[in-house]
Amino acid sequence: MDASDVENDLVNVLFTEEQIQRRLTELARDIEADYEDKDLLIVGILRGAVMVMADLARSFSRHLEMDWMAVTSYGSGTKSSGVVRILKDLDTDISGRHVVVVDEIIDTGLTLSWLTSNLSSRSPASVEICTLLRKPEALTMPVEVKYVGWDIPNEFVVGYGLDYRERYRNLRDIGTLAPHVYS
Ligand code: PRP
Repeated sequence: MDASDVENDLVNVLFTEEQIQRRLTELARDIEADYEDKDLLIVGILRGAVMVMADLARSFSRHLEMDWMAVTSYGSGTKSSGVVRILKDLDTDISGRHVVVVDEIIDTGLTLSWLTSNLSSRSPASVEICTLLRKPEALTMPVEVKYVGWDIPNEFVVGYGLDYRERYRNLRDIGTLAPHVYS
């Protein structure tokens, strides 16, 4: 669905489908340049990163492998519980592999900071992070991110994989959720 289908629920549209596709193509070019002549495994973090993974992966003009993890750090609301758990682990042995973890948003940094140290303990050749969005004002855990689509204000955003209570993931654009929806 488009922003026009849920316009009363949004304060504004932050990024349109076209802007997102353009930025993902740029990120894919950056990653390709950094991993020239190297094997590459990209790891998507379910469920929010599905759209980013699908479009980012198709923006590459080289071979890569894809795998998935599911972790949980949030309940069904908007607040972090501070707990990270693996719900689905990788199917791939990453020892000696170059890994780029792909997520749609870094909020407090808890998930990716925990995940980076978990994956690093599996003896990969390298682990880097690619996120479409990052909220610098919300960060509470240090996390080194090599590829960032955009830094955004600390507002509740939905769409393009980002949900509020499992809704809005299938919105093509990314928008700021109106407070009346969650208050
Ligand atoms: C989102 C997102 C990140 C995490 C970021 O996932 O995909 O993994 O939150 O937040 P943090 O930086 O505060 O840890 P979420 O737990 O909402 O699950 P989902 O991908 O299934 O929506």
